[in-house]
Amino acid sequence: MSEFAELSLGDKKYQFPVITGSEDEKAIDIAKLRDETGHITIDSGYKNTGATKSAITFLDGELGILRYRGYSIEELAEKASFLEVAYLLIYGELPTAQQYAEFENEIKMHTIVNEDMRKIFEGFPVNAHPMGVLSAMVCAMSAFYTGEKSGSDELNIIRLMAKMPSMATWSYKKSQGHPVNYPNNSLDYCSNFLNMMFALPVAPYQVNPVVSAALNKLLILHADHEQNCSTSTVRLVGSSHASLYASISAGINALSGPLHGGANQEVIEMLEDIKADGGDTAKYIAMAKDKNSGFRLMGFGHRVYKNFDPRARIIKKAADDVLAALGINDPVLKIASELEAAALSDEYFVARKLYPNVDFYSGIIYRALGIPTDMFTVMFAIGRLPGWIAQWKEMKANKEPIGRPRQVYVGATERAYVSMAERA
Ligand code: ACO
Repeated sequence: MSEFAELSLGDKKYQFPVITGSEDEKAIDIAKLRDETGHITIDSGYKNTGATKSAITFLDGELGILRYRGYSIEELAEKASFLEVAYLLIYGELPTAQQYAEFENEIKMHTIVNEDMRKIFEGFPVNAHPMGVLSAMVCAMSAFYTGEKSGSDELNIIRLMAKMPSMATWSYKKSQGHPVNYPNNSLDYCSNFLNMMFALPVAPYQVNPVVSAALNKLLILHADHEQNCSTSTVRLVGSSHASLYASISAGINALSGPLHGGANQEVIEMLEDIKADGGDTAKYIAMAKDKNSGFRLMGFGHRVYKNFDPRARIIKKAADDVLAALGINDPVLKIASELEAAALSDEYFVARKLYPNVDFYSGIIYRALGIPTDMFTVMFAIGRLPGWIAQWKEMKANKEPIGRPRQVYVGATERAYVSMAERA
């Protein structure tokens, strides 16, 4: 007989099937719980709730394992290109040389952003946060590519992969008050992004291969992370059959929060503050431990990684390599290392299994590459795009029902309306 879990409620017993994933992960299938028992489960923050079965990304938070479609993050970050990984996530297998060439070429054929969309940029104030601009522009795509222009899911996937770097760099150009750059299809994905970011009409930009390779690695490390906050948002919005653009735009908004993707910006700002305050890391460790201070050590802790974040290890080494290759001596790197060493030997952090996450060192590399601080989370969004797309596609292919959690109501019970004149 297959495995089941037994639940006792009063004098009744109920059985629920146990399902096992391909990596031996176990789940109790409670799909019939409410029908059979009249009860629901409650799990604030979904800490123990599986929302789907997925074949895209496997991670083991205790062992620090992360794999996309079975391939380890360490191997992909070392050997693959970002577009190869995007193809792997979206279509399930690594591309052959021909499939890769076709995918890259199709993306290049769609990099230009509609000129009417470019005009929307003119309406944003100069100090607009690029994450707000990016999510608005991606959402605007659902207005531009609608009706007879909507096209197939496959076409919309290509359009998004192609236009996101252009739109991201335009939001930066806008903040500088500079004219935007158009894509250059003779460049690869990362180099094209860098060129649109940094080329000026008065000074052409020469792509440094060290910078381009570092960007490629960072994008791969961020490409997917199973059912995190922004990805769950993409799947939930998509489950209403909202468009791919509307779903991804919602994911960008979820990512912008400082507890999620916004942490990479907060980390650098925190390290800068510590430096400006004399570099006393012990003071900040003490503040992070004091619940009344309202201060958290940004870039520390993770919902699922409880021993180490494998991406953080790769990024730390990449940060050292990039800074050395570019001849940069960034004083915040020293503060980051001191903070990490202090936290890892502190009982508070050890007991709560708080380790540096992917964003602790990513900002240091981005800064070395010349990316301004408020673009850090946009970089994360560009990296995460293929993961969001893959998850949206899987949700649709599985014909998942509309997402609709329940609640336990704890408000007032029924009462009679009192007219305004009679209210105290
Ligand atoms: N600094 C100090 N204390 C912390 C930190 C931190 N960075 N993170 C968690 N804690 C403490 C909490 O106060 C709590 O302590 P308690 O048990 O005494 O109440 C305990 O550790 C558990 O923390 P939770 O917030 O319950 O853990 P949760 O899994 O809900 O949150 C999160 C994970 C949001 C990442 C959290 O660790 C955090 O806020 N980190 C800082 C922000 C950050 O770096 N976010 C990026 C995450 S990675 C990503 O999105 C790509």
